[in-house]
Amino acid sequence: MTEPTLPLQDDFGRRVDYLRLSVTDRCDFRCVYCMAEDMQFLPRSQILSLEQLYDISSAFVRLGVKKIRLTGGEPLVRNNMLQLVEQLGQLDGLEQLHLTTNGSRLDKFAKPLKAAGLSGINISLDSLQPERFKQLTRTGDLHKVLAGIDAARDAGFKRIKLNAVVLKGRNDDEVVDLVEFARDREIDISFIEEMPLGQIDEHNRALAFCSSEEIRQQIQQRYPLTASDETTGGPSRYYRMTDSTSRIGFISPHSHNFCHLCNRVRLTVEGRLLLCLGNEHSADLKSVVDQFPGNQKRLEQAILDAMPLKPERHHFDLDDSPQIVRFMNMTGG
Ligand code: 5AD
Ligand code: SF4
Repeated sequence: MTEPTLPLQDDFGRRVDYLRLSVTDRCDFRCVYCMAEDMQFLPRSQILSLEQLYDISSAFVRLGVKKIRLTGGEPLVRNNMLQLVEQLGQLDGLEQLHLTTNGSRLDKFAKPLKAAGLSGINISLDSLQPERFKQLTRTGDLHKVLAGIDAARDAGFKRIKLNAVVLKGRNDDEVVDLVEFARDREIDISFIEEMPLGQIDEHNRALAFCSSEEIRQQIQQRYPLTASDETTGGPSRYYRMTDSTSRIGFISPHSHNFCHLCNRVRLTVEGRLLLCLGNEHSADLKSVVDQFPGNQKRLEQAILDAMPLKPERHHFDLDDSPQIVRFMNMTGG
């Protein structure tokens, strides 16, 4: 076993042990908070190959990363994802390999993903009403996603979590229904405040803002909640209900800053290492793997050199045009 060269640490003393890896910017949905209706995707020549994604991931694991989350776009639209999962699953030192998906292809992939070594799944689900689901995702089919959730449960994943982005006047009346859906299936659910990533004109983000506190109060009226100090290594703050194993999480980039606990970095499929979701600070790892294929030391050094670029915190402002021009599908959700 190779010992980690050095633990990854930033200039504010935060250990980085979690990599979010975007394997594609493409998606079969066009969620209104994530994308513009008409998106230009990256040409193949600008994206990392599967081998490069693997090489970069293994460098991170040698440097002490314990958890990798595969994101997109929609990761399952990329060809040969199972092969990548299988290879990553065998990395010595990696404790958790998770996937964030919109669920559209899970009915087909849940079982093989489990067999390939995936340990956890997050599935986006913003509405249980087919018409509304279509409006929010522009192209999504709720029934396919529900079949995907069933398939993930049948495949035997221990941790399945739903993610719901809540928008005022669009789906904030479904919060309790979504909680009940999760309770009935003994899975977790997190509610997310929309983040101003990328310029969208489908809705006004300031008007659609729904705070985690409003959502929590809605749930509280039906199911008393107790704060829990559990963490899953991400930004969710968890609550429990007295009579259910399901956890309810809140991801509150606006109302509850979580930056001081941040242990993660993101890699875009263009090979840009983003040190913060809400800032543009980044390092180009694609040029390193393009120019020096197979050179592990160079890659590790480039990663170590990038750590001091990690900013102390994000500053999201709902009233101005977004400071961050990249969309979530480029960022890795
Ligand atoms: N703000 C908050 N969450 C977002 N997601 C996508 N775009 C945004 C945004 N602008 C969420 C998706 C999914 C995860 C990948 O990120 O709903 O759950
Ligand atoms: Fe696709 Fe996820 Fe973005 Fe929706 S939020 S468009 S499912 S990447």
